[in-house]
Amino acid sequence: MYVSDCISVNEKGHLTIGGADTVELAEKYGTPAYVFDENEIRNNLREFKKSIDENYGGNGLVVYASKAFCCKEMCRICAQEGTGIDVVSGGELYTALSVGFPTDRIVFHGNNKTHDELVMAVTNNVGRIIVDNVTELESLNEVAASQGKTVGIMLRIKPGIDAHTHDFIRTGQIDSKFGFALETGEAMAAVKEALKMPNIKLRGLHCHIGSQIFDLDPFELAATVMLDLFKDIKDQTGVELEELNLGGGFGIKYLKTDRPRPFADYMKKVAETVNSYSAKLGLKTPFILIEPGRSVVGAAGLTLYTVGAVKNIPDVRTYVSIDGGMGDNPRYALYQSHYELVCANKASEKRTETVTVAGKCCESGDLIQEWTHIQPVEPGDIIAVLSTGAYNYSMASNYNRIPRLPAVMVKDGESRVIIKRETYEQVAECDI
Ligand code: LLP
Repeated sequence: MYVSDCISVNEKGHLTIGGADTVELAEKYGTPAYVFDENEIRNNLREFKKSIDENYGGNGLVVYASKAFCCKEMCRICAQEGTGIDVVSGGELYTALSVGFPTDRIVFHGNNKTHDELVMAVTNNVGRIIVDNVTELESLNEVAASQGKTVGIMLRIKPGIDAHTHDFIRTGQIDSKFGFALETGEAMAAVKEALKMPNIKLRGLHCHIGSQIFDLDPFELAATVMLDLFKDIKDQTGVELEELNLGGGFGIKYLKTDRPRPFADYMKKVAETVNSYSAKLGLKTPFILIEPGRSVVGAAGLTLYTVGAVKNIPDVRTYVSIDGGMGDNPRYALYQSHYELVCANKASEKRTETVTVAGKCCESGDLIQEWTHIQPVEPGDIIAVLSTGAYNYSMASNYNRIPRLPAVMVKDGESRVIIKRETYEQVAECDI
């Protein structure tokens, strides 16, 4: 009925997530607030793992892309589920390390890691550093040498595949700040360079072709492009690389009309392609890594807001103002992303109104959704915006010095705070 299986309506006509009444959650924890369903998150991780077990003999690793939603509890969940974690900054790495995440399962990304970040990664024995450019490759070799270590790396390759996604979130193109280009020979040169370095162990290659992708063909194509490079490397250097990281990007349901494919379909297709194409090229089948972010947490989360002013401008539109906005969800302002909205305390009523939901920031573009269908709303009502689990908390800002929202985790109807609401004191804490 809703965009996520963990969302429903109870006998009071209130929206629920993971069996918990969202109106009661709003009363208990205040609004605005993010709410997540732990079972949904764990199930998604398990589905990805199962898809590798069943289709690829378990010869791979699910690496949760923590940029989608990074906090200590999320790192603990991944550690317990036996997945890896992809971090893209010292801050994300710090969060994973702070809960004792097994460092051999940490994958460190980033197109411009600082020297300090490289030192932090090497000092903590991060399992795989995804090297983006030659400058980084050279610095990393030096950092590793200074600590007398050999570090495992993968090189980020731009396979040049257009995955038909939003321009702003497309990263697999030749015109991208990420990675080594294939066509120009840059990728092969970097491989040869890495193989010569005494403190670098080249474990394999990485690519990431975009985000919110529904079509399976681009993933399949990416796998073959990457295996062609494995073959060229073998021919030119005699070295057969062992690992292929295919990145993330699996689409989720923001609207009922979105049709994501089951994870198993994706892995089945990729496994078939990798198995048959490796055999054709005379290569061993590589260990596969996948990096789902949005598809793990996106539909497992929602945001609760309280309605303030409702402004009807005759013959123009109705603005419904809420107590959050672009500070906690910048995705409509950035990408015109669509969402399903529900009046949580009137969830069983019909959606008879068409409104624009606006935030409280001092900016006209601070909108959560325009011309959206919702139940009749009035001041004091609770609005739930669904599928906000990915890239909302993680891209939040303190614009207008509005404190960041708390995150509440629900499990089997019980709830607990996993991120506390920021206070005004904390917002001003670094001020001198
Ligand atoms: N691996 C790499 C190297 C990535 O760059 C990304 C996302 C992922 C994995 C995870 O992709 P996912 O499974 O979540 O699609 N802020 C944008 C999304 C940016 C994605 C950046 N990279 C948004 O709000 O839609």
